[in-house]
Amino acid sequence: MNNIRVLSVFGTRPEAIKMAPLALELGKRDGIVSQVCVTAQHRQMLDSVMDCFHLKADYDLNIMGKNQTLTDVTSRVLNGLPAVLEDAKPDLLLVHGDTTTTFSAALSSFYHKVTVGHVEAGLRTYDRYSPFPEEMNRSLVGRLATLHFAPTPKNAENLKKENVQGEIFITGNTVIDAMKYTIGDNGSFSSEELNSLDLDDRRLIVLTCHRRENYGEPMKQIFTAVRDLAMKNPDLLIVYPIHMSPVVRDAAGPILSGIDNIRLIEPLDAIDMHRLMDRSYFVMTDSGGIQEEAPALGKPVLVLRRETERPEAVAAGTVRLTGVEYRSIIEDATELLTDPAAYAKMARAVNPYGDGHACERIADAILVHAGLSDRIPAPFDPYHELS
Ligand code: UD1
Ligand code: UDP
Repeated sequence: MNNIRVLSVFGTRPEAIKMAPLALELGKRDGIVSQVCVTAQHRQMLDSVMDCFHLKADYDLNIMGKNQTLTDVTSRVLNGLPAVLEDAKPDLLLVHGDTTTTFSAALSSFYHKVTVGHVEAGLRTYDRYSPFPEEMNRSLVGRLATLHFAPTPKNAENLKKENVQGEIFITGNTVIDAMKYTIGDNGSFSSEELNSLDLDDRRLIVLTCHRRENYGEPMKQIFTAVRDLAMKNPDLLIVYPIHMSPVVRDAAGPILSGIDNIRLIEPLDAIDMHRLMDRSYFVMTDSGGIQEEAPALGKPVLVLRRETERPEAVAAGTVRLTGVEYRSIIEDATELLTDPAAYAKMARAVNPYGDGHACERIADAILVHAGLSDRIPAPFDPYHELS
């Protein structure tokens, strides 16, 4: 039997963190010829992940531009990918999640009649403008793909309700596999800046905020609430590795800089980021990936968004949908800081998103799809994880 040629395409930091362990797994499997194409929708933040996982791209579209628009990203991927498809001749193209790289690579693959496999399929808010444009990107890829790797049973149900074509596998989220690499046994940081922080005598809050739907007034309210929390609670240390987007930097700088117990730092590499979260008291974020990682580390999360496509940890009680209003942010953070019982309830390690074996399941499913194996992977069972 012939090998199956698999091309994994990704471009941003979160896609890279979640696809790196899969690319490494595919590279180890007999029967799979695995190649990687990065669009570099993110340049520095992507390269940092590639370095952490010692992963090299076979193709690099190098598309990032300062203040790039969604149209810029979409058109550059659509223009760049055909030559790669021509050269790599994949039987299967894998994309991840909900970014504009994800959607445009899947569309390009469809135009070339190459089968699309969607990793992290089926997450939904059913609000087309929130998260924007990610909800639409992810739904459209659900139409384009014929292999759907849904992290959780709920994600798979969403896909079934929508009558997507093809096969659905419940795999767990590959981010939990990635954390096996990044957290490791040695908890030290490579960043000198982090090593110089006094993390033993202060309660650490890790903050991230970057989403498009939070641009403008929501970010203003979020940052003002964070500033006031820091000023009222001198025992806190709030560390915010700021996303490289100029819009985010322009919003955060004027409100948050110059306050002794708020550290605005450059983006961390994935290893330091995961280890920093592991040392935190709690996490405040609008990130998707961090909503999955922090529960695995037993860290409470206040989600700085109005909705989430990741309801599982909210149901488990370790993530709270705080929203983007000044008052709700102050109230939820103050409760965690002052009420030990409320804190203890949220600070439980739960893992509704994965068991660290998602990449193996996806590789197994690809081999079954290719007719190279009959070992259909057993679905990831979060109830087993939670019990
Ligand atoms: C993108 C994704 C979003 C994801 C986020 C992860 C889309 C539409 N959005 O949003 O789903 O949550 O990535 O972080 O795909 N920049 C750099 N260097 C970098 C990365 C970014 O300078 O390494 C700057 C560039 O000026 C770029 C800007 O950040 O124009 C925004 O990047 P872009 O990928 O367009 O949007 P994100 O907000 O990062
Ligand atoms: N992350 C990182 N360094 C940072 C901030 C975040 O490595 O300075 C990691 C984080 O742990 C998670 C991923 O980046 O694995 C999430 O990416 P992001 O928040 O940019 O995107 P989202 O998940 O919201 O799409």
